[in-house]
Amino acid sequence: MRPSVNEASSEELELVHLYEQAPIGLCVTDRQHRYVRINRRLCEINGKSREEHIGHTIHEVLPDIANQIVPMFQRVIDSGEPVRGHEVRGETAAPGGEARVFLGDHYPLRSEGGRVLYVHTMVQDITAQRRAEAFLKETNEELEARVTQRTAELESLSAQFVHIARRTAMGELVGSIAHELNQPLSAILANAEAALRFMEAGNPDMQEIREILQDIVKDDTRAGQIIRRLRTLLQKQAGSRERVQLDELVDQFLPLIRSEALGARARITLESAPNLPPVEADPVQLQQVIMNLLTNAIDAVRSSTSDGGDIRVVLSSIREKSVTVTVRDDGRGIPAESIGQVFTAFFTTKPHGLGIGLSVCKTIVEAHGGTISVENLVPRGCSISFVLPLKSATAP
Ligand SMILES: Nc1ncnc2c1ncn2[C@@H]1O[C@H](COP(=O)(O)OP(=O)(O)OP(=O)(O)O)[C@@H](O)[C@H]1O
Ligand SMILES: [Mg+2]
Repeated sequence: MRPSVNEASSEELELVHLYEQAPIGLCVTDRQHRYVRINRRLCEINGKSREEHIGHTIHEVLPDIANQIVPMFQRVIDSGEPVRGHEVRGETAAPGGEARVFLGDHYPLRSEGGRVLYVHTMVQDITAQRRAEAFLKETNEELEARVTQRTAELESLSAQFVHIARRTAMGELVGSIAHELNQPLSAILANAEAALRFMEAGNPDMQEIREILQDIVKDDTRAGQIIRRLRTLLQKQAGSRERVQLDELVDQFLPLIRSEALGARARITLESAPNLPPVEADPVQLQQVIMNLLTNAIDAVRSSTSDGGDIRVVLSSIREKSVTVTVRDDGRGIPAESIGQVFTAFFTTKPHGLGIGLSVCKTIVEAHGGTISVENLVPRGCSISFVLPLKSATAP
């Protein structure tokens, strides 16, 4: 098969050179599966020298994977038809000692009479490609999981926003923050989609995918910052300051909550000290506080075992320095282990609660320079009080 240098024309020499230097493995085997010719690349793949191949059978050269290969060669010899894209997995004698993946194409070389004399084979080592595919599949799944998680978070966030907007008179502020949040979240989605497209296009550039993933992490951090800023803004919302007569404010507010109270068989009464001094406050925000406290009290009465209950709103003043508002109910009270957490945002024990009510109360009361506290009552129920200084310490 190998022409000697003297006999060969320059064209043949060039072909021999090409065969030898080809970047894929090439060989020719005879009807007994003995190597007749082999190029440098296939010697590398098989981990053996040319001499260890020529004249030896596939079984001798590749004992671990010959069972997968020889039937293909036999099929080409028997049928006279090529076999393409045949994948083989296993170890050769090449250094590294790890299982590899090879892709083989086998073609018949016939005599003039048409009999298949030899099989010509091309082999590619596609281990790295398969590994990259596995890595991409994993990355892809990770990205998809991340997008799903972010979408779920966005949905839950917007539910919380709706709730906050209802519980506080800050709908507009919340709307603009939600809008701002949308930007990094859309960027995350767009980047994730780009990465997916990229990977599906085949032969992806890992460096570029890494950069996309870094962008996603960056936008994620930005979304987190916006959320933290929302909290700060909520705390700073000082609102307007005017002279507010709290007994009048509560009196005007009670009819608004009457039907809810009736539904829970809760009786609400107002007891006010005479000549209650006015406070300087934002009346809309104070109504918000009263409403959140009364809603909680009504919930507590509704879920207590007794038939209906009493809620008392008590207004008092200490030495012309401050006004105290106390909302007491005889509902189920607060379990001792959670009493320390009720003002923490998103702490709730209610199936449909979001745990916003009391944290908003605390934010508003503190923005007015006041304090708020909670205690359980004996034999049952609980009492939540807030104290407002007559002159607001943090008036805008
Ligand atoms: N009057 C009360 N009696 C018993 N438990 C109360 C009372 N007020 C508050 N709590 C407890 O404190 C938790 C937090 O109250 P908070 O008002 O912050 O949230 P929530 O009422 O659960 O939800 P929402 O955001 O709708 O107000 C409640 O889930 C409840 O366990
Ligand atoms: Mg509440």
